[in-house]
Amino acid sequence: MIARIGTDVSTAADLLRSGHAVAIPTETVYGLAANAFDPEAVLQVFSIKARPSFDPLIVHLGRKEQLHRVVKHLPEGAERLMDAFWPGPLTLVLPKRLEIPDIVTSGLDTVAVRMPAHPTTQELLEQLDFPLAAPSANPFGYVSPTTAQHVADQLGGKIPYILDGGPCHVGVESTIIGLEGGRWTLYRPGGVGVESIEAVVGALSPMHRRILPVAPGQIESHYAPRIPVVVGEVEQLLPLYAAERVGVLALCKDHGAWRTEVLSVSGDLAEAARGLFGALRRLEASGAEVILAERFPDEGLGRAINDRLRRASAKGPYRD
Ligand code: TXA
Ligand code: MG
Repeated sequence: MIARIGTDVSTAADLLRSGHAVAIPTETVYGLAANAFDPEAVLQVFSIKARPSFDPLIVHLGRKEQLHRVVKHLPEGAERLMDAFWPGPLTLVLPKRLEIPDIVTSGLDTVAVRMPAHPTTQELLEQLDFPLAAPSANPFGYVSPTTAQHVADQLGGKIPYILDGGPCHVGVESTIIGLEGGRWTLYRPGGVGVESIEAVVGALSPMHRRILPVAPGQIESHYAPRIPVVVGEVEQLLPLYAAERVGVLALCKDHGAWRTEVLSVSGDLAEAARGLFGALRRLEASGAEVILAERFPDEGLGRAINDRLRRASAKGPYRD
């Protein structure tokens, strides 16, 4: 199978209706979508990505009226969060309805839901009478795709169709929050800044390490290119790697290394997030032996960037 890349929403809808997995654009990253109510279709998503079954998927809705098919009830604050950030890059982990197959949620009694802001995928969801379960459309553990070509490069031989919606505008995955002991808790920083969420529901609790070694959303080594990533003071690190072909990932400064990707000349963190995954892919493809990445300002989209770089640099799954 070689995936066709196209912009035909009805082709994608037909394939999804007949139980296939299809790559779809969202404002954050491309997703690999399947009918959330069809366990067989969802199983394909896990197998195409080589994703372990303990890592649950996000369910994507086109309209708020679909919520009642997915979620049992809305806890305090959920409605306000949806009003403030949907459609957009905020995922809420909510009590799930039994109708959602266990494979989608890895057997948890919660389900992660979001309403994507990409017009092509909104049109697609409009045509379907089921929501879409979709993880990012990359092999498990690798950098997420932000263009249709990124998806084709890695999964093109395994899926029938890639719905092309152009480059993703946000560039990092959604922010994920859920309730722990009645308090909204940050599971993954992402496309909506923590500061904006806190303006709606008050301070978020930091995530506590759970007893399980690998709890959903907490897998350490992730978002990783195939060459080592080292995060820190690039000027101090460079002499240590003098014998290697070094690729540098920087916000706005060119440190004069063998290759450099500057993410935003003006130091804009949203622009930096948009370019992050593409830059990591280019550095890997350039023949660099190691990537040295700056630490970004820990605010707004900078938090998500730092989180992805930290995980890209984690050697084993449970390190930290
Ligand atoms: O922006 C995004 O969120 C993209 C686009 C395609 O929507 N999707 C995405 O999916 O990043 P994925 O599968 O790569 O990451 C979903 C994360 C995983 O870390 C998973 O563990 C967590 O969501 N998750 C899903 N259901 C959960 C639940 N019930 N409780 C806690 N974490 C959950
Ligand atoms: Mg992912």
